[in-house]
Amino acid sequence: MNRRNFLTTSAATTAGMVFAGTSGIAAKELHTLANAPAAKIKVALIGTGSRGCGMWGRDLVKEYPDYLEFVGLCDKNQGRVETGKRFIGVSCPVYTDFEKMMKETKPDLLIVTTMDATHHEFIIRGMELGADIITEKPMTTDEQKVQAILDAEKRTGKKCRVTFNYRYSPHRAKMWELLKAGEIGELTSVDFHWYLDTSHGADYFRRWHRLTACSGSLWVHKASHHFDLLNWWIDSDPETVFAFGELNFYGKNGPFRAENCRNCKHTQECKFYYDIMKNDYYKALYVDNEKYDGYLRDGCVFKNDVDIFDKMGASIRYANGVQVSYSLTSYSPYEGYRIAFNGTKGRIDAWIEESKPVSDKNYDEIVLFKNFSKREYIQIPFGTSGHGGGDKLLKDQIFLPNIEDPFKQCAGTRDGALACLVGIAARNSIASGKAVKIADLTSIKPQAVKEYRRV
Ligand SMILES: NC(=O)c1ccc[n+]([C@@H]2O[C@H](COP(=O)([O-])OP(=O)(O)OC[C@H]3O[C@@H](n4cnc5c(N)ncnc54)[C@H](O)[C@@H]3O)[C@@H](O)[C@H]2O)c1
Repeated sequence: MNRRNFLTTSAATTAGMVFAGTSGIAAKELHTLANAPAAKIKVALIGTGSRGCGMWGRDLVKEYPDYLEFVGLCDKNQGRVETGKRFIGVSCPVYTDFEKMMKETKPDLLIVTTMDATHHEFIIRGMELGADIITEKPMTTDEQKVQAILDAEKRTGKKCRVTFNYRYSPHRAKMWELLKAGEIGELTSVDFHWYLDTSHGADYFRRWHRLTACSGSLWVHKASHHFDLLNWWIDSDPETVFAFGELNFYGKNGPFRAENCRNCKHTQECKFYYDIMKNDYYKALYVDNEKYDGYLRDGCVFKNDVDIFDKMGASIRYANGVQVSYSLTSYSPYEGYRIAFNGTKGRIDAWIEESKPVSDKNYDEIVLFKNFSKREYIQIPFGTSGHGGGDKLLKDQIFLPNIEDPFKQCAGTRDGALACLVGIAARNSIASGKAVKIADLTSIKPQAVKEYRRV
């Protein structure tokens, strides 16, 4: 199914139109052709936290009013879904009962932005109730849930797109292009090291992300972004993973602890003190709605219940023979990543700062080294939306008509699965002390050349 089919089949059906191979035609155009009143894509969203309300809520309403309309919002927290509705700026009904929302509003498209470990419930049931799905990453958190999603997609014939916005950052697309163009000959190995800082990195330890049962650990919640990039750049499927990981800094390693920052007697001495009350939006979305579910957005990073790793390293072998050395450190003074692609004819290097840039430059830089030749500095201007400009490009490709996919950035369930599965394999490898084969986890069999499906 191509991109437009993904979004327009149901909308077209709703309007009583015949849908016959209209690839590349947006919902709005379909209706113009049929001379019918515009039937926009009917969108429902589950999970009105900051990601759901921002990137997939208010921004969609602002940016794509001609193509979509919200028909329902749902969250298990009654206060947050009402706050979310005001923030997003819509008049649709709100629900705490997902089944009720789906049955009453019959959306064409369901957007899933709940806590990671719950994504599968809504992806699967959403497809069963007739919707195509857009889900935030990670698609899910363990191998059984991955399999259940793959089975449901097959059973229902519905489509699920996984929103790997990292692929859409212009400098990463440039890396993809250089690799594809054979600039460094045949790719043989990749060195990939990601650093989260003591602000953004620490934030994972304040929230539900600190519990493996909720996030799958940073191996899945965060590193699945990185594994997806690797899968996409290398253009092959991961085959074997061996990993180490430990908790050295947050959680039980802290000098003191409390339930959350607002109730802490160590605020003067704690470098991680975070005053959520200074952020009006977060106060309205989270603090004012604690009474409904007890969720604390400003939890202590040193709580004893933190059970995820804060330093991780893995060796990954791909089905085409490429080897990867990967690490993630979550308590760095700066945030960003170092990457090197090693090939038979040269090497591509980059040091990308994600926050707190040390200079005022407005570009990312890639260095292309060709063996026995000069190096070339390639500068890619920063994008203007979130995640290096990737967020807007991703949404444009989903919602605007006639946007092609020259860099093969579109990702469905197979890509969503393989990104999670590397992290899941790493977790399993640490538990067993052994290398884990991706083929042993689900029905997906790694292929030397990655499968591409336009969703
Ligand atoms: N692609 C990216 O760069 C990016 C960035 C941020 C977040 N995300 C993803 O977006 C998702 C949401 O992140 P967030 O930061 O907004 O989290 P959040 O915890 O602030 O919001 C999640 C919302 O889902 C609701 N929820 C949780 N379980 C539910 C259930 N069973 N039924 C109904 N509602 C439920 C919560 O009440 C909350 O309002 C996560 O999966 C996260 O990984 C992706």
